[in-house]
Amino acid sequence: MKIPVLILIVFSCVCSSINATVSYDDKAIIINGKRRILMSGSIHYPRSTPQMWPDLIKKAKDGGLDVIQTYVFWNGHEPSPGKYNFEGRYDLVKFIKLVQQAGLYVHLRIGPYVCAEWNFGGFPVWLKYVPGMSFRTDNEPFKIAMQRFTEKIVNLMKSEKLFEPQGGPIIMSQIENEYGPVEWDIGAPGKAYSKWAAQMADGLKTGVPWIMCKQEDAPDPMIDTCNGFYCEKFTPNKPYKPKMFTELWTGWFTEFGGPIPTRPVQDIAYAVARFIQNNGSFVNYYMYHGGTNFGRTAGGLFITTSYDYDAPIDEYGLLNEPKWGHLRDLHTAIKLIEPALVSAYPTVTYPGKNQEIHVFKPKSGGCAAFLSNYDPHFSAKMTFGNTQYQLPPWSISILHDCKTEVYNTAKVKAPTTQKKMTPVGQFKWQSYNEETPSSEDRDTLAMKGLYEQLNVTRDASDYLWYLAEVHISPNEHFLTNGQLPVLTVMSAGHALHVFINNQLAGTVWGSLKNPKLTFSQSVKLRVGVNKISMLSVSVGLANVGTHFETYNVGILGPITLKGLNEGTRDLTKQQWSYKVGLKGETLSLDTLDGSSSVEWLQGSLVAQKQPLTWYKTTFNAPEGNDPLALDMNGMGKGQIWINGEGLGRYWPANIAHGNCDKCSYTGIYNENKCNRYCGDPSQRWYHVPRSWLRPTGNLLVVFEEWGGNPDWITLVKRTT
Ligand code: GAL
Repeated sequence: MKIPVLILIVFSCVCSSINATVSYDDKAIIINGKRRILMSGSIHYPRSTPQMWPDLIKKAKDGGLDVIQTYVFWNGHEPSPGKYNFEGRYDLVKFIKLVQQAGLYVHLRIGPYVCAEWNFGGFPVWLKYVPGMSFRTDNEPFKIAMQRFTEKIVNLMKSEKLFEPQGGPIIMSQIENEYGPVEWDIGAPGKAYSKWAAQMADGLKTGVPWIMCKQEDAPDPMIDTCNGFYCEKFTPNKPYKPKMFTELWTGWFTEFGGPIPTRPVQDIAYAVARFIQNNGSFVNYYMYHGGTNFGRTAGGLFITTSYDYDAPIDEYGLLNEPKWGHLRDLHTAIKLIEPALVSAYPTVTYPGKNQEIHVFKPKSGGCAAFLSNYDPHFSAKMTFGNTQYQLPPWSISILHDCKTEVYNTAKVKAPTTQKKMTPVGQFKWQSYNEETPSSEDRDTLAMKGLYEQLNVTRDASDYLWYLAEVHISPNEHFLTNGQLPVLTVMSAGHALHVFINNQLAGTVWGSLKNPKLTFSQSVKLRVGVNKISMLSVSVGLANVGTHFETYNVGILGPITLKGLNEGTRDLTKQQWSYKVGLKGETLSLDTLDGSSSVEWLQGSLVAQKQPLTWYKTTFNAPEGNDPLALDMNGMGKGQIWINGEGLGRYWPANIAHGNCDKCSYTGIYNENKCNRYCGDPSQRWYHVPRSWLRPTGNLLVVFEEWGGNPDWITLVKRTT
């Protein structure tokens, strides 16, 4: 009896070690010896809370996904050199294990450059200040740091047995991100760097394939993949690599000052079907759940706190219907024909103008067909076999046995649901006035001339004060002729509040396309010493562009005062004092302890429409499980905290400009095509995660930069 058991054990070990592999060929990713058509969706773990993860993953699974794709966020994991954080929203291992428990695979995009509308593209700000540093090129300090972090993540995954050959869910990784355009830009050092990155990654022996997205010359064995709204024309750089669509954009991000982009689901389904019928075998929705840029994690300039992305699961974790349901139906159809797709190449015929038929007919039996009508205006009648099919404009039908239409990309059967924001609570506020500092304050730093903002703040805060004094002689003509002098301030961005003698003189801001700004205004000055206090505010650090680490923030000048007896006085090179951050930040007013360290005004004394004001209140969690948000309409610009957790930047006073014309699902989509809410705030509602709340006594703190009405702030619940 004993011998057969032993043989069985040996046999099963051999089997599982042979089986537990991930490889690829020209048709598909091969998992445990089986080619797969994989449907994947991006869910970025720090953009929701660990309490939301199981439900999001379940909804992804119910939506017919096989894979969850996420970036790894270096600056979240290593906030200061060598000090790692894998807790809370950054508990990557927990996230991956939850995906595994749900029976799904993981595509881990380590980067560590991620782009992703994430602060500094995922790089820690300290990295910029490592001597000799130059990002994403053939630079020793950069390569050392990148390798160290990549190894850290790979080793963590290995130690937790998370790669597929170890029995884990990770079937693929990614090194770098969309490096092709940068390499094109910088030439030889870029080529050397990408070769190095590929070798370095490959050398880590994860046992699963690596991909490099949007990089045509990705060296073997890296798989080059496509990102975009459509990718049907893409072909990998070697005939033995599978055709993969790593980012199919389900919508687009929102910027403060811009409208809210949406993408019709019919067009998304069309892009998927068109890709699959052309021998594509992996599609990842970017994003499947976009979520929230909590705290100061939003990056790229002027990116809103909401990262909803019009994804199939909305920011709050609710189904975005009919998007979610229509894509689920598509996945069901694709699953039905998977055996045919993985074992045959398509035969293509052209029955008419703008029409194609793709047939997959494996020798082993079975048959699947795609009937396509690319015409953006007219529906088509198409005969295939003995049957006639009716195709709406810009649509593709899937026939699961080459006979029965199981799906058409434009025939939406999933129900549409409306979302509602219902008020569930208002607040009684107290206020605290953040004074404008002066150059004599002890915690300021005096220097000659103007300094770049990031260099001074190291991104410890969005805020940097530039402080100076201007002397006005009693002989100045403007004092009597009433022709006020004009102060002109040139800044590299992103927003600027100018105070003269503690009074707000004006606010200016840039935009994602043009972060630079100029303040130019006549100002009231008095005889003697005048205080100029300028609060320069960053709104997320650049996340994309060749050597974006060299982009400047803050006031770099020139600064001039025009209309004095002497003509124009140049203030650029005079002495400026600097103060990093707000007093309220230093005092941690966002926490219970900190907020009790100062006197707050109450009742009728509470500040209204006053710049530089902190507001605080406490509230109880509303009953139930519906997701919550703060309606910030009526407020200007600032930040929000709940129980010490940063909810994000708010800016409802930044109104959406752009084109919100009627939207049709037909014709080529781009991110400017189906915009909504022009003329409204770019972002009015701010997600409050339920798990951040206790039943009673939650501390809500708001810092308002330029003046708002706190009585308008309401807590709302989101329901369908
Ligand atoms: C891609 C990039 C993503 C994200 C996306 C826009 O080019 O790889 O990380 O930034 O654009 O949302």
